[in-house]
Amino acid sequence: MKIATILGTRPEIIKMAPIIDEISKRGIDQIILHTGQHYDKEMSDNFFRDLEIPTPDYNIHVGSGTHGKQTGLMMKGIEEVLIEEKPDIVLVQGDTNAVLAGALVASKLHIAIGHVEAGLRSFDMTMPEEINRRAADVTSTMYFIPTEESALNLLAEGFSHKNLLITGNTVVDACFRHLEIAKKRGFEEESLAELDIENMDNILTLTMHRAENVDVKERAESIISALKELSDMNIIFPIHPRTRHTLESFGLFDELNDLPHVHIVKPLGYLDFLLLTSKSTLILTDSGGLQEEAITLNVPALTLRYNTERPETVTAGGNILVGSDKEVILENATKILNDEEFADKMRNAENPYGSGDSAKLTVDAIQDYYKKGLLDIKAPEDIMRSFTRKMASVDEDITVGEFEDGHNSLIHMVFDGDKMRFPADDLNLNGMMINYDERE
Ligand code: UD1
Ligand code: UDP
Repeated sequence: MKIATILGTRPEIIKMAPIIDEISKRGIDQIILHTGQHYDKEMSDNFFRDLEIPTPDYNIHVGSGTHGKQTGLMMKGIEEVLIEEKPDIVLVQGDTNAVLAGALVASKLHIAIGHVEAGLRSFDMTMPEEINRRAADVTSTMYFIPTEESALNLLAEGFSHKNLLITGNTVVDACFRHLEIAKKRGFEEESLAELDIENMDNILTLTMHRAENVDVKERAESIISALKELSDMNIIFPIHPRTRHTLESFGLFDELNDLPHVHIVKPLGYLDFLLLTSKSTLILTDSGGLQEEAITLNVPALTLRYNTERPETVTAGGNILVGSDKEVILENATKILNDEEFADKMRNAENPYGSGDSAKLTVDAIQDYYKKGLLDIKAPEDIMRSFTRKMASVDEDITVGEFEDGHNSLIHMVFDGDKMRFPADDLNLNGMMINYDERE
């Protein structure tokens, strides 16, 4: 079996690292294709070194550009590599342009696609990431889904539960593994000393790079005005290159950099960044990955967005959406800083993203699909049979698997009272309402 991983940006490298590592350990043939969307060493090369994964076999160097140009160049480069390498499955992760390009190309070549971190939805079609993740889900063969809530998004869109695999998020694997490594290597003193900041108490780690925040001057100004008032905090801001460019062009960079309690530093390596976030009192971010890491590391997060595709973090109580509104940011930050009980509740929020075995579950499932021939994508040979859409109330002990075999059917939705449930094969349906397709 040969597995091809396509990645292109910092978070994809971080979240695919545990899977790449697991594939290597099992001796499975693999290739890594980098699109070159991120190219600064602080956004790319350093992570291959820090996370101890092989450097990419291919880099198609697309660089920066408009979405159309960047995605088009990626598609051309990815197609050439996939035709040459003929992998059995292509893995894409998350919601970047690499995911869109990789999924579109692989599906047209009839190569199976595994979407890692599938099923997330912000329901905000103005976000390029929402378009990318939805398109990748439409074309995928295997879905590696972090939580039941995300799996329900896919069921609601009509996907068969058969290929939806709830695996947790590999960010937990990466976080646990690398925090330990960082501590063992004594990175703590070294890295924090490198930041050259005298007082490391009361840390607020800030990251932001979303187009809707940093490309819109009014929003960037509003966030900065809140930062000015948080002068009791040591704000450490490893700045994304996009943000540096736009803040400079708006004339806001120097104003922020001149604040004595704000320390703007270049993007940090993963080990250093994990140590920084784990030492933080508060995280202020618009990053997807950081919302997940905050709840994994028990640090309260305020998310500088109006919606999130990670609502589990909010429901669990570890994350609050504050948009870019100065007053809302300050009100919530003040509460976390001054109300110990409130902060403690946020810190103790249960992590919804699994226990750190997501990479193992993912590669187990790929090997299982391969053995069963389920990665062979070919034109159907059976003539389609008609089916009837039905509802039923179940009043006997019968599992999803038994019901489907007995009725030659596929269950779509299951309601336990007013709660929608994921139709796992071994779920006992007694007392539940189901909706299913019955084949003739
Ligand atoms: C991309 C992803 C976003 C992800 C983020 C992770 C898409 C649509 N966006 O956003 O989902 O959250 O990566 O960080 O795929 N730049 C550099 N050096 C680099 C990379 C970028 O200077 O190595 C600058 C360029 O000016 C570029 C800008 O950053 O135009 C934006 O980069 P781009 O890759 O288009 O989007 P991100 O904001 O990084
Ligand atoms: N990160 C890092 N160094 C930094 C800032 C972030 O290693 O200076 C890591 C962070 O731990 C997380 C990932 O980068 O795992 C998040 O990437 P980003 O915010 O760029 O993208 P998103 O997750 O929003 O797609």
